[in-house]
Amino acid sequence: MDPKALDEIIQKRRTFKPATLTETPIPEAELKAVLESARWAPSHGLTEPWRFRIYRGPARKKLADALASLYETALPADQQKPGKADNLRTLPLKAPVVMLVWMARQEIGKIAEVEEIEAVACAVQNMQLAATARGLGTFWSTPPVLYLPQMNEWMGIGAKDRCLGLFYLGYPADPAAWPSGRRRPIEEKIEWVDA
Ligand SMILES: Cc1cc2nc3c(=O)[nH]c(=O)nc-3n(C[C@H](O)[C@H](O)[C@H](O)COP(=O)(O)O)c2cc1C
Repeated sequence: MDPKALDEIIQKRRTFKPATLTETPIPEAELKAVLESARWAPSHGLTEPWRFRIYRGPARKKLADALASLYETALPADQQKPGKADNLRTLPLKAPVVMLVWMARQEIGKIAEVEEIEAVACAVQNMQLAATARGLGTFWSTPPVLYLPQMNEWMGIGAKDRCLGLFYLGYPADPAAWPSGRRRPIEEKIEWVDA
């Protein structure tokens, strides 16, 4: 084990907006390795609530058109912003792989919903790190349409399931210009309680 290698990947992980990605296909083995990392996320009671609907090739257009149409027809007018529907209609076409990430709500509802959402977030973070280690850029995008009941209907998932994100995956157009991150010092967020 090389903890420094993991530390480096964690710090190197960056959000890549779709416009900065290429459509270069992702080899199947690389994509599977990224998905396999999600499998190993923690979940309370081992519910494994993460689900991924993966769009590639022409299927991305179906997703993009549906998102744009939901934006225009189901999002209240006062929440709509100029140009956003067009973004939804075009952005999913800019990366070779776009996933809908969703949380499958446990039938008996024993585990708190927030914990199921947290587990899916852990799975997404695993994928982001596994992707970074392979030189892939990722973007976790959460346009408000994802949270509409009409989104669940369009996806054919249960009313208690939750769509939690669009996850873009692709090779950066300019890997040499991999962006650096910026964060506040962690000490600002810590209270040490030693005695
Ligand atoms: C749950 C979640 C939802 C996000 N949704 C969006 C989004 O809708 N649009 C966006 O531009 N970035 C979104 N982001 C990415 C953040 O903007 C990004 O992580 C932040 O700017 C820090 O940049 P970095 O990821 O490169 O470190 C989201 C991140 C998380 C964790």
